[in-house]
Amino acid sequence: MARGFFVSFEGVDGSGKTTQILRTEAWLRANGVEPVMTRQPGGTAVGDRIRALLLDSRTEGLDAKAELAMMFADRAQSIVEVIRPAIEAERVVLCDRFTDSTEAYQGGGRGLGAELVRAMHGLVCGELMPDVTVLLLPSMEVALRRARRRNEHTTGASEGRFEAEQDAFFERVHAAYRAIAEREPVRVVTIECEGNELAVHREVITKIEPRLRAAGVLR
Ligand code: TYD
Repeated sequence: MARGFFVSFEGVDGSGKTTQILRTEAWLRANGVEPVMTRQPGGTAVGDRIRALLLDSRTEGLDAKAELAMMFADRAQSIVEVIRPAIEAERVVLCDRFTDSTEAYQGGGRGLGAELVRAMHGLVCGELMPDVTVLLLPSMEVALRRARRRNEHTTGASEGRFEAEQDAFFERVHAAYRAIAEREPVRVVTIECEGNELAVHREVITKIEPRLRAAGVLR
């Protein structure tokens, strides 16, 4: 393999993202590639503590810009500890969420705007962007239905701060993701995931396999 390869997965809450990441990991393994798995926020010791603070619904009164800065603090740590070393070691990285999440949730959802988020990305992350981003985007109606169903089953409040947001927040997140997909149609592979898990998985693979081959990750 010529170099590392960085794949991020993105989507609204309830898009089935976690399942698809695990399926992609299994598919890579079956093809002889052992990916480095990570997620944001979290994925490092410091990041896990930032994550706990960010997602805990007992965290009250957190300013939107403070939230934005914490997302990038987590990301800075993740880049230094996990992502860059993995890429330098010529590994494939599968990252559950990256800067597109910040653009969608803080930029769109919280209303801070895409420009501020992108400027901060430049300061903190420099040129680093995923080689490919898999964006799982069910229709707004389907996403909200799934997210609500999931909320009914989640226990406790320790990771529910974003899930407790109102529909209007998720509509802004959804619209921001659409805008990213339209702006960067090459990096961002959008999957309108209304179908069943297996059908969505097949579509993910159909779309990323040629990229992995072109990069020399798969032969
Ligand atoms: P998580 O439990 O990982 O949610 P999911 O399974 O839906 O990915 O929680 C991550 C939450 O953090 C999610 O609601 C999105 C939010 N988030 C942001 O608001 N900004 C960000 O930059 C990132 C990475 C996540």
